[in-house]
Amino acid sequence: MHQLWGSRFSKAPDEMLHNFNSSLPFDCKLYEYDIEGSIAHAKMLGAQGILTNEETDSIVSGLQEILNDINTGKTSFNLEFEDIHTNIEKLLIEKIGETGKKLHTARSRNDQVALDIRLYLKKELKNIQKSILVVISTLLNLQKQHTETIMPGYTHLQRAQAVTFAHHLGAYAEMFKRDFERLNDCYKRVNVLPLGSCALAGTPHKIDRLKTANLLGFDAVCLNSMDGVSDRDFVIEALSGLSLIMMHLSRFSEELILWASFEFKFIEFDDSYATGSSIMPQKKNPDIPELIRGKAGRVYGDLVSILVTLKSLPLAYNKDMQEDKEPLFDGICTVRKCLEILPGMLLSLKVNKDNMLKAVHNGFLNATDVADYLVDKGVPFREAHRISGNLVKCCEEKGCTLMDVPLSLYKQEFEGIEDDIYEKIAPETSVKSKNSIGGCAPVAVKSVIYTNEKWVKDNEIN
Ligand code: ARG
Repeated sequence: MHQLWGSRFSKAPDEMLHNFNSSLPFDCKLYEYDIEGSIAHAKMLGAQGILTNEETDSIVSGLQEILNDINTGKTSFNLEFEDIHTNIEKLLIEKIGETGKKLHTARSRNDQVALDIRLYLKKELKNIQKSILVVISTLLNLQKQHTETIMPGYTHLQRAQAVTFAHHLGAYAEMFKRDFERLNDCYKRVNVLPLGSCALAGTPHKIDRLKTANLLGFDAVCLNSMDGVSDRDFVIEALSGLSLIMMHLSRFSEELILWASFEFKFIEFDDSYATGSSIMPQKKNPDIPELIRGKAGRVYGDLVSILVTLKSLPLAYNKDMQEDKEPLFDGICTVRKCLEILPGMLLSLKVNKDNMLKAVHNGFLNATDVADYLVDKGVPFREAHRISGNLVKCCEEKGCTLMDVPLSLYKQEFEGIEDDIYEKIAPETSVKSKNSIGGCAPVAVKSVIYTNEKWVKDNEIN
């Protein structure tokens, strides 16, 4: 076993210790970021005269070759070296000789690991944002087809008032917009260069951290070297953002599962997005949304895992922090998969408009419309609420709905009710009447769809 710190030790580490200590099995994923960071670092050292031009060129081209060798499968990693940073450095020394040993001037694995994760996250946050935009665009397209598709809106999972399918989907478009914006905000704090913090105290070498930041596309450099190597707030922020995405995905999944049930029958999953049962031939199971719902727990676990790892951790770097990468990678990978599978599933859904509308006719979803009608007649809302409640009670006793109770009964409760009540409380009228900003009226929803289409365009990522 080859250790970077070998000279101070008289014995090689125990093999079990070595394997326990190693992060290579998972941080090998960071190789391209590690190389990208090393190239920028070498260029900066060269520009500062810390490396000669020849040394810089040799290191940079050596690293580029290593990247190519890894990408083409010519080189693989050596488990004898503890992590990806050590592996790349060893490969460089093997390739270019003694000069390779100069690359680690004015840096440490502690700032390197923080750098690699930040570079990785910068790329992955953008990937996730791209997938969110696809989900939002899919929702907007689906919404356009369903601005007049009336369905029950629920509170307490009890039928409450008529809304449209487009309106219900629009709620998720808003959630995913917020998710997107949260990642923008997280990105700002990821986009800070830790390199140059070195082990924890900074360096006596005359480095130019702003130049390195510039070469790597960072907006700023961290201003405290101890914080630079021990900060993982940005990992927590990213996983919080991812957890919220999963929370939204799981609420949506739950609704899709309910709507596809025999009890609701509002939607049907396409055969390509459903599975059967090995024993019950009639079954068509919504495994995909169930799995998405389940994976929310997994991503919350990733978040909690890093929160707990960092709790009470003294400054600066501690090996505990090596435990940051697996939950982060898992969270990113899980969210990406869930976001990527959703659009296809949504586009293949069969929407049972008739069943949605049928469900609106039962359950007194227009009781509030009766009250609103009375308010238009000058009745104070609280009184109107009472009158409408009485009417619902009468209907329940008679086994009828507010649409087919005779006008005489309406008049018994309030003389001013005319036969225009039936038109006013019909689901179509009810839905159309909710045309306040953010309401479910087709015209209000269309205007939001338009706004959101523009939002998607304005936020496109190349
Ligand atoms: N492999 C470590 C990690 O992933 C980075 C190395 C820092 N190790 C050290 N002993 N200072 O966090």
